[in-house]
Amino acid sequence: IDLETRIREILDAHRGQEGSLLPILHDVQEAYGYVPEAALPIIAADLQITKAEAHGVMTFYHDFREKPAGRKVLKLCRAESCKSMGADALAAEVQAKLGLDWHETSADGAVTLEPIFCLGLCACGPAAMVDGKLVGRATAEALVAKVKA
Ligand code: FES
Repeated sequence: IDLETRIREILDAHRGQEGSLLPILHDVQEAYGYVPEAALPIIAADLQITKAEAHGVMTFYHDFREKPAGRKVLKLCRAESCKSMGADALAAEVQAKLGLDWHETSADGAVTLEPIFCLGLCACGPAAMVDGKLVGRATAEALVAKVKA
């Protein structure tokens, strides 16, 4: 089905719900893997807010992507336990090796880098996740090898 029809289905599913913008954006991202730009005016008109307001909410919460993610998504834990195990240094090394900042996708579409706050693997920090699979005691070399594999 086309984008507008799908967005309207999502809007209808949240009809009458208070504060529905966030759940709507989450549903759109689940359906497409990101929030397509063309979806925003449809959502904004329906909720009677401006497109700028919808966009502002979307960018305030870093959960939402404006572009499709890379073929692999690498998440690095940024929470306390992992920080005490060297997560900051790991992040800096991974960012340098991949040439990516947070929320960026490599130009070849291979990988998207995202921060995450606690993966529940605190005992084996620094922790990471590659395409939904946990990686404990992560090193930059191992992570880069995984995303390039
Ligand atoms: Fe990193 Fe919990 S603090 S997994």
